[in-house]
Amino acid sequence: METQTYNYKVVRQFAIMTVIWGIIGMFVGVYAAAELRWPALNLSDVAPWFHFGRIRPLHTNAVIFAFGGCGLIATSYYVVQRTCNARLFGGNLLPAFTFWGWQLVIVLAAITLPLGYTQGKEYAELEWPIDILITAVWVAYAIVFFGTIAKRKMKHIYVANWFYGAFILAVALLHIVNNISIPAGGFKSYSVYYGAIDAMVQWWYGHNAVGFFLTAGFLGMMYYFVPKQANRPVYSYRLSVVHFWALIFTYMWAGPHHLHYTALPDWTQSLGMVLSLILFAPSWGGMINGIMTLSGAWDKLRTDPILKFLIVSLSFYGMSTFEGPMMSIKTVNALSHYTDWTVGHVHSGALGWVGFVTIGSLYYLIPRLYGKKEMYSVKLINAHFWIATLGVVLYITSMWASGVMQGLMWSQLNPDGTLTHSFIASVSRSMPFYLIRFLGGLLYLSGMCIMAYNVYRTVADAQPVEAEIPALPKTEH
Ligand code: HEM
Ligand code: HEM
Repeated sequence: METQTYNYKVVRQFAIMTVIWGIIGMFVGVYAAAELRWPALNLSDVAPWFHFGRIRPLHTNAVIFAFGGCGLIATSYYVVQRTCNARLFGGNLLPAFTFWGWQLVIVLAAITLPLGYTQGKEYAELEWPIDILITAVWVAYAIVFFGTIAKRKMKHIYVANWFYGAFILAVALLHIVNNISIPAGGFKSYSVYYGAIDAMVQWWYGHNAVGFFLTAGFLGMMYYFVPKQANRPVYSYRLSVVHFWALIFTYMWAGPHHLHYTALPDWTQSLGMVLSLILFAPSWGGMINGIMTLSGAWDKLRTDPILKFLIVSLSFYGMSTFEGPMMSIKTVNALSHYTDWTVGHVHSGALGWVGFVTIGSLYYLIPRLYGKKEMYSVKLINAHFWIATLGVVLYITSMWASGVMQGLMWSQLNPDGTLTHSFIASVSRSMPFYLIRFLGGLLYLSGMCIMAYNVYRTVADAQPVEAEIPALPKTEH
């Protein structure tokens, strides 16, 4: 007979690893930031492993796929069980395979990237044997997730599961299509795409990695944990359904905004720009829906630091999804592209939106997974919130300032057409901003260390719990 409890073990494993990989990935980010300020840290004369060119993809893979990925899988496994009144599909074995398989992918990435094995495709750097492992783990994840939905005990599929489901399907499609390549040895391969087509496929992947990995999955988190923590229903359920369909339709077309003024056909660039501008509407619809869930309970924001994380994450989501459409306008992109403005935009989304919504959700989740009412210290959550907020603000404002400065310096021409400012002049002018970004990153990382301590004190003396599934009459579906 089937066990009548939820499978919390795998949720606990993924949740704890989210904090650990978060600290490691962000530490590497801080190191990369330090390298840009103090280039001697590249240690080029010692070994190539610490070179910025290898550390940077290590950082992006660690924060996106290890920190973000573990957070997404942890919360999706929790949410799908709780909203379907069903234990995870696949017995104990298949969910455990997804956990250990995903950790193996991360460890292999952490070894191969510093060694210099890379496909040279941003966010898809990992070589073909690891890509095959990712595919196997992802298919198992999809079977567990959709299998749980199939055996749900109610007719309705809660909106958070739609977002998680779209994230799982889209990432499978993106990963497989972008990584089709011909192996040329154990850790070397050649993409089957070439020239402008390769660029187009890569940025269809890259942009939708943002849209589905860094957005849709986290919106799933938002639609479950914001109403739960606020103890209010979603502001408008109808809006959440419109939000879902509009967002997933529009994201798919916006990739070419990464390739303005390139060999890509001009009409594709313009189409990418127009659909990016349209994307503003569903993004803000979702943000408003999340924030307005607090209607009638705004006072909770004063006292509840978890809610602060969740609501401020939505403000950053709104900010980066306003900034993104602006940057996709070709004339604005002529200024912003190649500059630190892009890096500022990325981190207002990554630190402010993805980071904060994950942190808030974990603070809600972890005590419940260990049979506790709340985290060990609410004061420490509050301290984490303010330190992290200051960190994000320092990071993104310094990058905006250096980005706009770089764009302006690079576009100034002398009457004879030569550059007014040399490239190296713009680099040395950027140094004060790199120092501020380094300090902002250090603050954000310190916040994560406070979180790790708080989590440790919460779980150290706790008994892991397996909550019972309430007996609901099975409705037809
Ligand atoms: C302590 C926190 C962090 C620090 C100090 C940090 C620092 C950095 C640095 C120095 C770079 C290289 C910028 C360049 O090439 O000029 C970078 C790139 C990047 N980081 Fe972070 N990062 C942090 C957290 C995160 C998080 C949490 C995420 C995602 C969830 C993230 C996603 C990225 C991405 C996607 C890029 C590539 C940006 C681009 O190509 O424009 N970072 N980060
Ligand atoms: C309506 C939503 C958004 C639009 C239209 C948008 C648009 C853009 C544009 C135009 C660029 C610069 C491309 C270039 O010049 O190379 C960009 C870069 C980027 N954005 Fe967004 N953005 C949006 C939301 C977000 C969010 C919420 C995140 C993160 C969670 C994010 C992450 C990134 C990343 C990682 C890059 C850098 C890609 C790279 O060059 O490596 N974006 N985005």
